[in-house]
Amino acid sequence: MSIALIVPAAGSGRRLGSERPKALVDLDGVAIVRRTLAKFAGIPDLTETVVVVPETAVQEFNSALEGLEFHVGDVHIVSGGDTRQASVRLGLEAVGSNPDLICVHDAARPLVSRRTLADVIAAARVSGAACAGSRAVDSVREDLGDGRTRALDRTRLWMVETPQVFRFELLMKAHHTAKAMRFTATDDASLVEQAGHPVEIVESTGSNLKITKQEDLELAKVLIARSESRR
Ligand code: C5P
Repeated sequence: MSIALIVPAAGSGRRLGSERPKALVDLDGVAIVRRTLAKFAGIPDLTETVVVVPETAVQEFNSALEGLEFHVGDVHIVSGGDTRQASVRLGLEAVGSNPDLICVHDAARPLVSRRTLADVIAAARVSGAACAGSRAVDSVREDLGDGRTRALDRTRLWMVETPQVFRFELLMKAHHTAKAMRFTATDDASLVEQAGHPVEIVESTGSNLKITKQEDLELAKVLIARSESRR
């Protein structure tokens, strides 16, 4: 089954305290987005990779992804939108190879394990829609909007991550329907579910840290140093 990859990387570096887009920030000598792409090297039947970047930073991303020393199919760099959802939609429109499956993986998660990638892809091959997630470890409360909060049962809660993998036409349909219905969500699994298709959750293995703040960057450096010392 052929697969294409969309990497939303059009977010700003504001919460990281960076002037540059987050995905271009240096993580131990390598731009975050380049580390993220490297995790997909050797994924079987990966035909192409679309990296969705801020409109004003196309040239910078071109430089950051020059001369890749690994294979992730044909790489296209396209401009994103104001929201993650718009960026993924623009990425979908740039996919040229009509793959069977599409994988969406945030540039901000460069530490994803190869095992998690393989597991989510394998699940989506069978069910058509799967995403990575982790069990909630903190107690969680819901904001009721009137100054009160309410405890939720964390044993029933998942923290949803990427990679998220879907049948290509299913994700296309979900995005077009969401746009027509003005439905917005922070991830693609929500759109697919809204379009009427269930999404399977696959528990992540290893750290699938999302780099958001400066302390995440520091933690990512420690985790990279640890994994390199084990090689
Ligand atoms: O902001 P957050 O970390 O939740 O974004 C998740 C991913 O979506 C990041 O990799 C970010 O670059 C991307 N994004 C995007 N377009 C936007 C906002 C975020 O591609 N407008």
